[in-house]
Amino acid sequence: MILVTGGAGFIGANFVLDWLRDGDEPVVNVDKLTYAGNAETLAPLANDSRHIFARVDICDRAALDTLFATHRPRAVLHFAAESHVDRSISGPGEFVQTNVVGTFTMLEAARAYWNGLAGGEKEAFRFLHVSTDEVFGSLEATDPAFNERTPYAPNSPYSASKAASDHLVRAYFHTYGLPVLTTNCSNNYGPYQFPEKLIPLTIINALAGKALPVYGDGKNVRDWLYVGDHCAAIRTVLQKGALGETYNIGGWNEKANIDVVHTLCATLDELRPSSSGAPYAKQIEFVKDRPGHDRRYAIDATRIERELGWRPAETFETGMRKTVRWYLENSEWIAGVTSGNYRHWMETHYAGQA
Ligand code: NAD
Ligand code: DAU
Repeated sequence: MILVTGGAGFIGANFVLDWLRDGDEPVVNVDKLTYAGNAETLAPLANDSRHIFARVDICDRAALDTLFATHRPRAVLHFAAESHVDRSISGPGEFVQTNVVGTFTMLEAARAYWNGLAGGEKEAFRFLHVSTDEVFGSLEATDPAFNERTPYAPNSPYSASKAASDHLVRAYFHTYGLPVLTTNCSNNYGPYQFPEKLIPLTIINALAGKALPVYGDGKNVRDWLYVGDHCAAIRTVLQKGALGETYNIGGWNEKANIDVVHTLCATLDELRPSSSGAPYAKQIEFVKDRPGHDRRYAIDATRIERELGWRPAETFETGMRKTVRWYLENSEWIAGVTSGNYRHWMETHYAGQA
């Protein structure tokens, strides 16, 4: 049995679905179901006895203790977090609560449980913390990519809260010997991503005939990784990672935002041309920049390849095509997540930005 937190979110749900597709080890899936968590994504597992869903806040120590005692997991995969940078700017409190206090509470619950294990079970236990490349801060155009020794320099409330959580994880290894692993990954894209993030937002707005908002000059650079590749990397680190170590995960795919948006527009022009016949790129609008917007992220993923043998399987082109197709074929899922809270966010966040 493994325990996954945040398994109703984008990456966590992809991880759980892939895990149960490839094997039979059960999963207890711990998720508070915030606006970003979506039970619909897990619908294919509704009658699957290998999947146990627990609607629990990771800040709730008593509930976590019960889950550990009941299910006795051999590993924790910790995905749960507040994950959207723009929301961390308009409301940082939730980020400190979930990402810092929540990770601390997870570590305390895991430590108490692990201390009660004996022999082989204790030795085999793992706590894998899923983190981000944003903790390293921003690069200039010619700087080398982030590696595992790059100093932390977080710039947004989101990245600062993730950095704090990474430090706690590190401290629990050095102080208590808790068998932890940390991964720092670049921007993910793929099925089931909540459409507040650049790629699904662009696809959905394009199809709806709405503006495609590009912050600032559109030249900010991100490294993009297909979510299935991230999940495979996490499985690899869980299986073979060295205790207390960190592994950078990336796609070797640095792209400027404006180029990502143009690629999406061109793919949609081909797969689902607009009814007017106009290219989707005509809908691009440059809008006010994100405050403190990091200019460039780039990941040097040499270590995980050299030491653990992982490399992404998808290229940017194959991953983007799969992703666009998925959004075209899953309009019901989109309708389910683009109501209520989402509409409110879109109306308030983008109001008057053009
Ligand atoms: P997401 O926002 O899509 O999902 C987060 C999930 O966590 C949701 O299901 C939500 O309900 C749950 N959650 C939030 N607060 C909770 C709480 N207090 N208790 C229990 N559950 C809670 O996020 P994501 O994009 O899937 O990211 C998952 C993890 O990967 C995060 O830790 C994020 O920092 C990290 N990460 C994301 C990316 C990316 O590009 N999306 C890249 C690198 C790392
Ligand atoms: O780098 C890893 C990180 O990637 C993860 O840790 C975060 O959880 C995840 O949200 C993502 O952060 P970003 O801020 O890079 O992702 P986002 O999709 O919000 O934005 C990607 C880029 O596109 C960024 O430079 C901001 C820009 N952007 C974003 C939105 C939502 C726009 O130009 N317009 C937009 O409307």
